[in-house]
Amino acid sequence: MQAFDLVLFGGTGDLAMRKLLPALFRRHLAGQIPADSRVLGVARGALSREAYLARVEQSCRQFGEGAFDATRGASFASLLHYVSADARQPDSFGAVQAVLAGREAVTRIFFLSTTSARFAGICDPIGRTGIATPDSRVVLEKPLGQDLASAGQINAQVATVFAERQIYRIDHYLGKEAVQNPIALRFGNLLFEPLWRRGSIRHVQITVAETLGGGSRGSLFDQTGALRDMVQNHLLQLLCIIAREPPTSNEANAIRDEKLKVPRALRPLTGADVLAKTVRRQYRTGAADGKPVIGYLQEAGVPADTTTETFVALKAEIDTWRWAGVPFYLRTGKRLQEKVSEIVVTFDEVPHWIFGGATGLPSPNRLRIGLQPCDSITLTILAKKPREVMTLQAVDLSLYLAASFKAQPLDACERLLMDVVKGNLTLFRRRHEFDAAWSWIDPIREGWARHDTDPKGYAAGSWGPAASSALIGRDGFAWNGEL
Ligand code: BG6
Repeated sequence: MQAFDLVLFGGTGDLAMRKLLPALFRRHLAGQIPADSRVLGVARGALSREAYLARVEQSCRQFGEGAFDATRGASFASLLHYVSADARQPDSFGAVQAVLAGREAVTRIFFLSTTSARFAGICDPIGRTGIATPDSRVVLEKPLGQDLASAGQINAQVATVFAERQIYRIDHYLGKEAVQNPIALRFGNLLFEPLWRRGSIRHVQITVAETLGGGSRGSLFDQTGALRDMVQNHLLQLLCIIAREPPTSNEANAIRDEKLKVPRALRPLTGADVLAKTVRRQYRTGAADGKPVIGYLQEAGVPADTTTETFVALKAEIDTWRWAGVPFYLRTGKRLQEKVSEIVVTFDEVPHWIFGGATGLPSPNRLRIGLQPCDSITLTILAKKPREVMTLQAVDLSLYLAASFKAQPLDACERLLMDVVKGNLTLFRRRHEFDAAWSWIDPIREGWARHDTDPKGYAAGSWGPAASSALIGRDGFAWNGEL
């Protein structure tokens, strides 16, 4: 691996301190940071290098999983530099230029860990000062824009400085090991792919449930809401992984070509469909971990009259030969009962039931891909109950990946950072994919703005509103766990 200069804009921000710098620290301990590499924290504040190092040390102690000690801290600190610069002040940006001067041969990574409203303002001086070498990379944090128009504008501005092959749009869900399991499962085994279609699959559920409230990041979440914060990116990414066609190879473009076709084939949710096929709610007071918790409207930093949703459930349909007639149910919410992320694929019933009784057991085969709290794969099959003549019962074939491989998964952030260093774009989103995702999301928000202006509530600590169970129940199904 080639040495790099990682220029971290928003270098004192929450994400940098909580995630990125501890992730770099752990990769450094693992011996993965090439010699002569540097990390340049950039922020507006006038901080000395010592003061910056002290902040980084504190965050690595807190989030470095107990690995921090004075010796390791000192060796990591030798990589770190701090540059005070304000992209809005052309003169102050010269400081960044000066620190990079003479190191053109080293891979330059510009990591924009700021709100996307500032991306253009940062890229502009990068372009003007000529510090972006042809081999440079730029990493864009989510959320990228607020809708199709704003995302398009930001992408266009970034494109004036960087070519698409240099742009790494992050979605940390794509860096989770468990998210890559469905790919291995589908395309590394003969077993599933012939059944991976209408006629064999009845429906698919994708759940990303959180116990945390939306208020912990205050108004930031409030400006975004669950649809844009979670569905537009993480849940649609999971949907793409489950629904895409087999790529011709494991090469980044081959994978991303197939992924793009999924959001483009999503049936638009417009007009009456928005109300019929989506549920939008806000949590109210309830309980978490046996203790009472406040409702979203009472959270600090959240406007008392906000209409931002903290829960979304919806029914998506993909208009392709493979998926016509197979519903995909997506749900995500804050302050739900458990932190669980899972994909559940339910297969059809057998065409002819020979084991007696008027009807067969309902849809017995299910494949559950667990992403959180642990990476697991569970296939539910029917087996004969011992000692009984021919009584069938559902049993689980389960695989817990950490136990089977005797290895803990790599943190998503570490994985994605190292992919940027290696120049591997496979797990990053392309511009067209963003456009397709926003084109599908925007009409849902427009429909809500017209007809569902005041979201109803659900109790904190529950599994969400009854309307979410009704959404899937109308088609004769139930959310996993509600069976
Ligand atoms: C982030 C969202 O992208 O993902 C947060 O902005 C959310 O609101 C988080 O809490 C969930 O990530 P994870 O990895 O904890 O499921």
